[in-house]
Amino acid sequence: MEIRRARHEDIPGIIAYTRDTFEWGDYVPDVIEEWVEDPDGVTMVAALDGEPIAVARALLLTPNEGWGHGIRVHPDHRGGGVAAEIGIPLLAWIRDAGAQVVRLLIEDDNEPSIRHVQKLGFRRTVRLMHASRTVGEATANPEGNGVRRGPSALRAKPAKVQDAPLVLASWSSSEIGRAVRGLIGEGWRFHTLRVDDVRDAAGSGSLWEVGNSWAITTTIEPTFHVAMLDTRPDEAYEAIGALVDLANNRGAERFVVWLPAIDWIVQAARRTGCDVSPLSIWEYPL
Ligand SMILES: CC(C)(COP(=O)(O)OP(=O)(O)OC[C@H]1O[C@@H](n2cnc3c(N)ncnc32)[C@H](O)[C@@H]1OP(=O)(O)O)[C@@H](O)C(=O)NCCC(=O)NCCS
Repeated sequence: MEIRRARHEDIPGIIAYTRDTFEWGDYVPDVIEEWVEDPDGVTMVAALDGEPIAVARALLLTPNEGWGHGIRVHPDHRGGGVAAEIGIPLLAWIRDAGAQVVRLLIEDDNEPSIRHVQKLGFRRTVRLMHASRTVGEATANPEGNGVRRGPSALRAKPAKVQDAPLVLASWSSSEIGRAVRGLIGEGWRFHTLRVDDVRDAAGSGSLWEVGNSWAITTTIEPTFHVAMLDTRPDEAYEAIGALVDLANNRGAERFVVWLPAIDWIVQAARRTGCDVSPLSIWEYPL
């Protein structure tokens, strides 16, 4: 078996065995070409007789934080340690690129993947909930998943660039911020929130003040993502509700918020009509 960087000619072979990885399909066939061409990350394959039987990717999210994702071993070759063979050189690439830590995200029911990263020496550091619901016209029942909810008593107001240090200080000390170890979810990737991230969010109108809570959002059409929500038990429900209202007003079809697996915040999200699914961040110090 040869372990090497993925090449253009590997793409059809990778697509052929990754179409149906999960019940819902897989996103790898849609992004593999972009990954192979991307000079900012590295995509490795394990090839047997020239044919790819495993693929995985790593990249830097900040100068000292790496991210690993997209590992797929051909179903006929699982259980033989191929994932580690491809994972070890990826960890070396991330270390050589200057990172001090590498993280990845795994659904809590993905036992094979959890076993694989545990054997490499990763530790589970954050228990997360991915909370989501439909909004706007995409919602069959406009009140959401059978949950009755009028507009929130709170309203999300754009926050200022000058608020950035305050937001960062709060995120590093609040119950929620500490539970997620100061990370922010950029889509499905997490890195430490830095003051410049908060300033950039404020500059692009994506930093929100909601009562005493703060939020950073992004829109990846048609989904409205809450990448960071710093809130408290007494206003969590209204704060999430205000962000659902904002998503609705923006014409989004889907609302997504990353939360730590803390009971009061998860219950608040459920009350606003969100479904939740548990995932964890796993970390490896380099
Ligand atoms: C997760 C995955 C990459 C692991 O790759 P792998 O090369 O099979 O890894 P390993 O050989 O180290 O096996 C890891 C665990 O898979 C399970 N496993 C063993 N044989 C298996 C088989 N034939 N099929 C599925 N899982 C198997 C075992 O729990 C094993 O742990 P153990 O060695 O402690 O018994 C692979 O199962 C895969 O591609 N899964 C689908 C995609 C996926 O879930 N990717 C990760 C998303 S976060």
